[in-house]
Amino acid sequence: MSRIVHLNGQFLPEEEARVSIFDRGFVFADGVYEVTAVINGKFVDYDPHMQRLERSLKELDMAWPCSKEELRAVHEDLVKHNGLEEGRVYMQVTRGVAERDFAYPANTPASLMAFTQAAVTIANPKALTGVATISIPDIRWKRRDIKSIALLAQCMGKQRAAEAGAYEAWMVEDGHITEGTSSSAYIVKDGRVITRPLSNAILPGVTRRALMRLAADYQIIIEERGFTLAEVLGADEAFITSASSFIMPVVRMDGQEIGTGKPGPVTKKLREVYIAAAVAAH
Ligand SMILES: Cc1ncc(COP(=O)(O)O)c(C=O)c1O
Repeated sequence: MSRIVHLNGQFLPEEEARVSIFDRGFVFADGVYEVTAVINGKFVDYDPHMQRLERSLKELDMAWPCSKEELRAVHEDLVKHNGLEEGRVYMQVTRGVAERDFAYPANTPASLMAFTQAAVTIANPKALTGVATISIPDIRWKRRDIKSIALLAQCMGKQRAAEAGAYEAWMVEDGHITEGTSSSAYIVKDGRVITRPLSNAILPGVTRRALMRLAADYQIIIEERGFTLAEVLGADEAFITSASSFIMPVVRMDGQEIGTGKPGPVTKKLREVYIAAAVAAH
């Protein structure tokens, strides 16, 4: 049975979902997206993802493609139609179909597309060994707080990581790490977690937000400040967070071991409590 996807109010087999060549997502990358994790057939942090979607849409003066209730039903129906137990729902909104012209078209309904991806997130074997990352310059635009579908710089970074046998690339700007191509970035030094403060320079991660709350519950101090590549190499531990990886230990940077070269105690604890909280929230 082929995957059932959602396109503009319809659920249909993926082969039958077609969009116009004039969709502004296709022509200009004029769209925004969200990725929400699914565990045991239930969403993790659904509301914060939709709050971030609302903000992304607002920043771009883009209309909602449907009501919030309808969007929730789209998410839930996709999980049901595809029998998804663990993985994620990807959804994107674009400014719709219009003659090619840079300025925003008037009276054009937004387009909505969404699909499921099955994935082993909790028992991901990579979490036991940790993953490698590389450093690359951050060549992205200056509104990284908007979850835009314009991801070419991230694709280039991820490709370089893949060629280097790494899982992720951490981007560097003005001597400081901004974030991973599809994740928030952290180091741990002397028991304190260090991560960059929110600004236009990074995406406000939903997993980051959950981690902040959990860290407070478990008396783990989080220092929000920029950190350098030298600090990464001298750190005790490092990790990334995202809806797709949850909390994933990073054990190498540019071929050099970080700390012991194995997932450290602070990272392991945070991953454990994050997963426990996500499962218990249902
Ligand atoms: C650039 C970037 N930063 C951070 C994240 C992590 O965000 P979240 O935890 O909401 O998945 C992502 C996720 O895709 C991302 O693309």
